[in-house]
Amino acid sequence: MIDKIKEYIGEVEAFQTQNKEELEAFRIKFLGSKGLIKDFFAEFKNVPNEQKKEFGQVINQLKTTAEDKLKSIQELFESKEETVGIYGDLTRPAEPVKIGSRHPISLVKNQIIDIFSNIGFNVSEGPEIEDDWHNFTALNLPEYHPARDMQDTFFIQTNPDILLRTHTSSVQVRYMEENKPPIRTISPGRVFRNEAVSSRSHCIFHQVEGLYIDKDVSFADLKQTLLYFTKEMFGKSKIRLRPSYFPFTEPSAEIDIYWGLKTETDYRITKGTGWLEIGGCGMVDPNVLKNCGINADEFTGFAFGMGVERIAMLLHQIGDIRMFYENDVRFLEQFKSSI
Ligand code: DAH
Repeated sequence: MIDKIKEYIGEVEAFQTQNKEELEAFRIKFLGSKGLIKDFFAEFKNVPNEQKKEFGQVINQLKTTAEDKLKSIQELFESKEETVGIYGDLTRPAEPVKIGSRHPISLVKNQIIDIFSNIGFNVSEGPEIEDDWHNFTALNLPEYHPARDMQDTFFIQTNPDILLRTHTSSVQVRYMEENKPPIRTISPGRVFRNEAVSSRSHCIFHQVEGLYIDKDVSFADLKQTLLYFTKEMFGKSKIRLRPSYFPFTEPSAEIDIYWGLKTETDYRITKGTGWLEIGGCGMVDPNVLKNCGINADEFTGFAFGMGVERIAMLLHQIGDIRMFYENDVRFLEQFKSSI
């Protein structure tokens, strides 16, 4: 009998439960009014005298072990109930946290930066509030030059010399003023134009400017660089440089890429031609080099400028430029990315 009681002590010590019903069953089995311990105590009178002492000890041990176990598990249950009461169930899995996503303009901008940094271009930035010199005059657009009308400008009313930059070409001026050739830089940034907002144009948008100045830089280098970019960015390997005019480059060209005419969308966005314009470019005008303190007899260079929104719209088939600025999460959430 003593051995049997010792076995029960082992069972009590090993007992564990998360469940109230099981704990109650345990209590009834050992400590209940018809429980085992009661039975053993009743048995005490039948135990031979020489065993009474040991029998009494083990049975008391069983009783205290069972009582302690019951108490400690009950306390555990109660402490859990308390935390549930105040904070809700702390053991529940957490609500999923909403992770934001990068803005499509930032994604495309970073992609462009990656592509050019692979061929040795660094990134430069300049102020969005510019002066006349950096936005216009140094770029071969003196006061009253008719080409200033190509870009409708927001001026700061109290000071006509200060304006919101109309293009990131202003950054190339700043960069040339502060750095000596060889120069290989791209300048992404926000620009502003006083234009009516529609699905195709906005008064705020982004550009990436590129500038390469060194000895013997040629138009062929420009074309090759742009071809490399279009292959990497769009997977298209045909471009066309269409003669154009910009005051800061000579000769100047518009950059067209051959998009193709496979789908209905291709027809729509290329107006049935298969060609799409993505920006302007040219050989930096010697006057601009001089204005920025670079010897135009020794150095030549090319420059280009592209609209980031336009590229993002092409890549992601976005039909309305205003979507970039409306901050509609249903739109923005679609651009989850690790870049
Ligand atoms: N700044 C021009 C614009 O905003 C774009 C541009 C054209 C930039 C030709 C250039 C360039 O650097 O060479 O329309």
